[in-house]
Amino acid sequence: MTHKKVILAGDGAVGSSFAFSAIQQHLVDELVIVDTKPGKSNGDSLDLEDVTAFNGNVDVHGGSYSEASDADIAVITAGVPRKPGESRLDLVNKNMTILKAIVEPIVQSGFHGIFLVSANPVDVLTTATAKLSGFPKNRIIGTGTSLDSARLQVALAHTLGVSVLEVNAYVLGEHGDSEFAAYDEATVKDQPLRKYAVDHGITNADLDQIEADVRTKGGQIISQKGATFYGVATSLATLTKAIFNNENLVLSVGTALDGEYGISGVYCGSPAIINRNGATTLTMPLSDSELEKMQNSAAMLKQIVEQAAI
Ligand code: LAC
Repeated sequence: MTHKKVILAGDGAVGSSFAFSAIQQHLVDELVIVDTKPGKSNGDSLDLEDVTAFNGNVDVHGGSYSEASDADIAVITAGVPRKPGESRLDLVNKNMTILKAIVEPIVQSGFHGIFLVSANPVDVLTTATAKLSGFPKNRIIGTGTSLDSARLQVALAHTLGVSVLEVNAYVLGEHGDSEFAAYDEATVKDQPLRKYAVDHGITNADLDQIEADVRTKGGQIISQKGATFYGVATSLATLTKAIFNNENLVLSVGTALDGEYGISGVYCGSPAIINRNGATTLTMPLSDSELEKMQNSAAMLKQIVEQAAI
């Protein structure tokens, strides 16, 4: 990829935070920002252009979906955000309409890159992006449980008094209420988490509480500041970097399940390898009880996908 081009659909809090991160890290050569409010995307482009004087040239401008034809990545953040007390699944129908109005013109432009989706309910909308685009499954990636996994790693690091970089733990399944922490496979300082926790006076009840806090952290942030955006925007920027640099990064994302875990026909949180071809789903060897949680979470999502008018 010589000229790295991203088209961003949605210049709200998540989109503009992603744009800032991508330009500040110089991950792209060209960033086209599309929003239903052109004043916002044009204004942000002018503001972000000033960042390039510090970090090197990026052509950043407001534009339209026809400019997706030669883009490598289309990032979809557009959607109505959750209101306090609302679940991500309450948003299905509202955001499905918005999604169609984005994916269809991008595909019509001749776009042949990778879709990154973060709009909620992210697993449903990622699955819908795959259906609407007809693209091969590896070229659609949702932020899935990448943010929840980050939150779990932060919470475990705080509780155990270790660096977040020494915690290897994933949240899997839906980015939402049926997600679960895959504790049985997690490690801290290369030791099994459950053993490390016991040795340091942390009980299973404490771990359950951490899992519950991670599940509700997005809602907590929304109730205090109205929205969450830095975490998910960083997930999008990390995925963009892994694609452009062909990193083979392993991350828990919203990835296609096509037989993995005995599940198919839905995108949800599982570790995957991210490189210039997109995502390849990995099957994490789960304990029996966690496999059951994974299957229940995916079954619930699948039902919503089937009910939604895609
Ligand atoms: C959150 C939103 C992005 O969990 O769903 O922060």
